Amino acid sequence: MKELHSISRSNRRQFLWTTGAAAMAAALPTFIPASALGRDGTVSPGNRIAVGVIGCGPQGLGDMGNFLSQKDCQVVAVCDVKNDQLERARATVNAHYQNQDCRIYHDFRELVARRDIDACLIATPDHWHVLAALAAVNANKDVYLEKPLAISLEEGQVLRAALQRQKRVFQFGTQQRSARGFRVACELARNGCLGLLRHINVWAPGSPPGGSRAVTPVPSGWDYDRWLGPAPFEPYTQDRCSADGLKKTWWFISDYTLGFIAGWGIHPMDIALWGAGDLMDGTVTVEGRGNFRPAEGVCDTATIWEADYQFASGLTLPPDCQPRHCFRRHGRLGRSQPEWCSTSTRIPHGPQSRRLQGQAHPQFKSGAQLPRLREEPRRDCQCH
Ligand SMILES: NC(=O)c1ccc[n+]([C@@H]2O[C@H](COP(=O)([O-])OP(=O)(O)OC[C@H]3O[C@@H](n4cnc5c(N)ncnc54)[C@H](O)[C@@H]3O)[C@@H](O)[C@H]2O)c1
Repeated sequence: MKELHSISRSNRRQFLWTTGAAAMAAALPTFIPASALGRDGTVSPGNRIAVGVIGCGPQGLGDMGNFLSQKDCQVVAVCDVKNDQLERARATVNAHYQNQDCRIYHDFRELVARRDIDACLIATPDHWHVLAALAAVNANKDVYLEKPLAISLEEGQVLRAALQRQKRVFQFGTQQRSARGFRVACELARNGCLGLLRHINVWAPGSPPGGSRAVTPVPSGWDYDRWLGPAPFEPYTQDRCSADGLKKTWWFISDYTLGFIAGWGIHPMDIALWGAGDLMDGTVTVEGRGNFRPAEGVCDTATIWEADYQFASGLTLPPDCQPRHCFRRHGRLGRSQPEWCSTSTRIPHGPQSRRLQGQAHPQFKSGAQLPRLREEPRRDCQCH
């Protein structure tokens, strides 16, 4: 949180100092609790990062819990288009701070218009990600945005330009970069402990087909029009945007998402990118195939896929859906079962780096001391 803090805190301090110092001094009560000034080891209220949460489903609430546990920030507002999720979020925040201060919003534009909010956590469905993030960034908020970043390359580029223009702190929700095992695996790969990388296998669960087509009433207290937002209108169908992870179907409908190739695939792809370092620089050629089964229900993203990336460095990367899942449910696409699948059947998803012999995949026990990641990956070192 310290990084996120730096820009906002100095602005707020400056603002308070230049505009209100004299008036505040005159108005101060005789006794101020040490905690209010941050002298009892806490961060004083004026120096905390004020956070607004946009999208309070299971992931938003989970992320919000992490913000609540940080002493140098304070969640001050929550926004959702479903009243039940909104009330759950508000109750959680108020119970945590033991007050009634958390404000609620149905329209994130009202939340980002608040000048006292420094940063936004955005965990809406994917089709809203970039629009909500742009609104926040253009209102000078720092942003934590859930994965996947966007549903098109162009959207991502527009957001990047806005971030550079506004000079905001931005973090993209690929939390595996904070997990010890992944970092150690990347450390090994980037420091040459596997030799020269030739091939990185990446896989993620396939997207299920199906999803009820039965049109049902929109659950009460849900603003379905606002949920759809930039997506084409479709009548509400059962579980289309339910918060229940097992039944929720929007994760696999192309109006709102790219399916699990991006929704889950971003995690192992991101680790592959991190571990490969400059081996992924330069031009890349990509070819891909997928099976789409829209006839089976509202879900219409690729149920299984395979792709081939060829990088200028000679590195190849074939993102694939999880072997076991594909075999069990749909059979495979054209590619015959690669040999590495047989060594990876107990790993639900992930990247696996290979050279000619030997492999590394992140299955490390937690608790190990992490070595420092070297600035420049070395490709010729011996591991001891
Ligand atoms: N990092 C991870 O490992 C991880 C895991 C699960 C989900 N996610 C991501 O988190 C995001 C949320 O996932 P989820 O499973 O909680 O989805 P969800 O549909 O259950 O929750 C999203 C919430 O956003 C709300 N919402 C929709 N439109 C909104 C708008 N315009 N303004 C404010 N709120 C709006 C919905 O009403 C809902 O409560 C997705 O982008 C998903 O890909 C990330």
